[in-house]
Amino acid sequence: MKIYRYTAMAAAMFAASAYAAPQVGVTIEAAKPGPVISKYVYGQFAEHLGTGIYGGLWVGPDSRIPNTRGWRNDVVGALKELRVPVVRWPGGCFADQYHWRDGIGPRSERPVRINTNWGGVDEDNAVGTHEFFELVEQLGTDAYVNGNLGSGSVQEMAEWVEYLTAGGKSSLAALRARNGHPAPFKVAFFGVGNEGWGCGGNMRVEQYADAYNRYVSFLHPAPGSNTQFIAAGGHDEDTSWTDYLSSKIQVGRFDGISFHYYTSPGADKNGKFGATGFDESRWIWTLSQTRRMEGFIANNVAKMDQHDKKKKLAFVVDEWGTWYEPEAGSPPGFLVQQNSLRDAMVAALNFNIFHAHADRVRMTSIAQMVNVLQAMIRTDGDKMVLTPTYHAFKMYVPFQDATSVPVKLENNPQYTLGEVSIPAVSASAARGKDGKLYLALVNTNPREGAEIAVAVDGAKASSASGTVLTAAAMDAHNTYAAPGVVAPAPYEAAASGGKLVLKLPAKSIVVVAVRE
Ligand code: AHR
Repeated sequence: MKIYRYTAMAAAMFAASAYAAPQVGVTIEAAKPGPVISKYVYGQFAEHLGTGIYGGLWVGPDSRIPNTRGWRNDVVGALKELRVPVVRWPGGCFADQYHWRDGIGPRSERPVRINTNWGGVDEDNAVGTHEFFELVEQLGTDAYVNGNLGSGSVQEMAEWVEYLTAGGKSSLAALRARNGHPAPFKVAFFGVGNEGWGCGGNMRVEQYADAYNRYVSFLHPAPGSNTQFIAAGGHDEDTSWTDYLSSKIQVGRFDGISFHYYTSPGADKNGKFGATGFDESRWIWTLSQTRRMEGFIANNVAKMDQHDKKKKLAFVVDEWGTWYEPEAGSPPGFLVQQNSLRDAMVAALNFNIFHAHADRVRMTSIAQMVNVLQAMIRTDGDKMVLTPTYHAFKMYVPFQDATSVPVKLENNPQYTLGEVSIPAVSASAARGKDGKLYLALVNTNPREGAEIAVAVDGAKASSASGTVLTAAAMDAHNTYAAPGVVAPAPYEAAASGGKLVLKLPAKSIVVVAVRE
């Protein structure tokens, strides 16, 4: 991968982007630490959908594509760099059609089902519980298993929890051992259904809350499992699910409410809402749409605060990201889309929003990890390419389990096009586990750079170093033939005259450690 320094060469590259005056002021209130940004905010979602698992991650142990016990070495290796903290599996909509017993025992004897949610393709259950936990182990991540409430039964779900977590003489623990895993699996999170209002059963919230109370009454993870239970919640501007669930669920095993919001630019004048080939009106519209996440979180959290004053419950955004028109020629229902610089911006804007709500937003999982929707990685046969979103995730790794620190923005201009207007600069800061002070900045304006005067309360900011992500075109993306079109570059700035000024190129993300 070609790496350049954001110095002379980069300045020449970005010469076309003028810097808007006046300077934007960013004050990092380092002496006022806020809540910890859970590492789980950087979670990922892998569903039995298209090539999200089969082909993209799992190729099977007999594949000529290099793999370890069936999982692709190249993809797993790249994902490890992101320090993926948690993986949600097996869906999504698929979770509510999945019967876990289909996915245990010898692979050759497993039943073939039809994936009715996603393309009607054959699901041969090659990836089941043990394979998933093998991936979890290879990634060094935690598991978020999503149970089937929609088409399953209380007993089926209860037995899965027992199969996963029980030790001792339980017959299900013995079955797990015969299938190759004597030790219980560590299930960090367990989701009780998905999108109860839609593919998870088209329920009213009252019905779902009753179902949750009933199901969870019979879910008994082995003592010491520390599994957190997540209720399937609402979506978009609808706060009624959060409101109702946080007030009406009575069982003790209730640790969070999920929420889904996808960013979609809507159709342009040609009826397209494409992942590439868009104009600036689709750029700003997409970013303005993704910024709605801020209000959605605030409104849902306000509901939770009424019923859960001690903030026991987490607000779990376990599906988010961009959703465009599928790539021409891709199989129906596979949700294949290209991933451009715009997607990286979407990711970074959401990260900054999640950081601002770290007290409640304690887990998220982007949809999805590989080949589906806003993916980190795309594959085609044995080829693999890292997307701009992958790079955004990597740049933000220091924020995992960092302590959030408030950021004050002054003179932040609006970036406006026609009737759409959004703040030009988005920022967040945190004290990393390594003790360093990290600052993340996004310049949403694709035509103008931004100058940021950085101050640290109670200290002098002397320099900053980190990485910048930008590209020449708004829809710049990486391909198998040209994998480095959008790639992070080193970024450095030093104070002069006692002032630390960061120059953000147009349409860029900058993450730096600020030296005090
Ligand atoms: O991520 C794709 C799908 O979007 C999920 O399966 C579902 O939960 C949501 O509607």
